Amino acid sequence: MKRLLLMGAPGSGKGTQAAIMAAHLGIPAISTGDIFRANVAAATPLGVEAKKYMLRGEYVPDSVTNAMVRSRLSRPDAATGFILDGYPRTVSQVDFLDDVLAGQGAKLDAVIMLVVDVEEVVRRLLRRAEAEGRSDDTEEVIRHRLELFARETEPLAQIYDGRGLLTRVDGVGPVSTVATRVLAAVNDGAEFSSVEEPGQA
Ligand code: AP5
Repeated sequence: MKRLLLMGAPGSGKGTQAAIMAAHLGIPAISTGDIFRANVAAATPLGVEAKKYMLRGEYVPDSVTNAMVRSRLSRPDAATGFILDGYPRTVSQVDFLDDVLAGQGAKLDAVIMLVVDVEEVVRRLLRRAEAEGRSDDTEEVIRHRLELFARETEPLAQIYDGRGLLTRVDGVGPVSTVATRVLAAVNDGAEFSSVEEPGQA
C-alpha cells in the first residue's frame, strides 16, 4: 500500500510522472488540476467556480478543493493507495488531508518534490501552450503560478521534511530518467533499476 504526494512547481512534471508511477505501482493518480479541468469542460457548478481562479493562475479556495479531494479519496480505488498530484498546496490543505487520513486510520508513506529551475519550467509550459493551448499557460499567468507556488506551496516541503517523509528529486532530464529517480525514491531504491518509457524529454 502506498499513499504518496507528488509536489513541484507548475511544469515540473507532476502529471507526467504521476501517470508513470500509477502504472508501475497499480494505484490511481489523482490530480486536482485534472479534476478541475474536467469540471470546467463539463461546465459543472464546480467547474464554473474553479475556472474563475484557474484562468488567473490563482488557487481555487481551500473549502472547494478540500471537499473535492475528500470525495475523491473516499472512492474504492483509492482505498489501496494513491498518488496525489498537486494537492496539498496550502497549510490548510495539509491539515485537512491529515484529518481525512486520520479518519481512515491511514497515513502518508512518502512525499516527492520534483525540483526544476524556473526558466526550464517556463520553457516547458510555453512549449505546451503552443501544442495544447491550455488556457493558463500564457507567460504572464505561468509567472504568477510560479510566484504562488514559491510563496504558498514550496514551504510545505518543510512540514513533510520534518516528518521524515520528503525526498527531493531532480526533475530535469529525459522523462524516463526522472521516472527512474522517482520510483527509486518511493521504493527506497529497491524495486526499480530503470523505467523504459518512450516519452520525450
Ligand atoms: P495543475 O494542473 O496541477 O497545474 P500546475 O501545478 O501548474 O502544473 P502543470 O499541470 O502545469 O505541470 P505539471 O507539474 O503537472 O507538469 P506536466 O507533467 O504537465 O493545476 C491547475 C490549476 O488548478 C492551478 O493553477 C489552480 O488554479 C488549480 N488547482 C489545482 N490544484 C489545486 C489545489 N490543490 N488547490 C487550489 N487550486 C488548485 O509537464 C509540463 C510540460 O512539460 C508538459 O508539456 C510535459 O510534456 C513536459 N515535461 C514533463 N516532464 C518533462 C521532462 N522531464 N523534460 C522535458 N519536458 C517535460
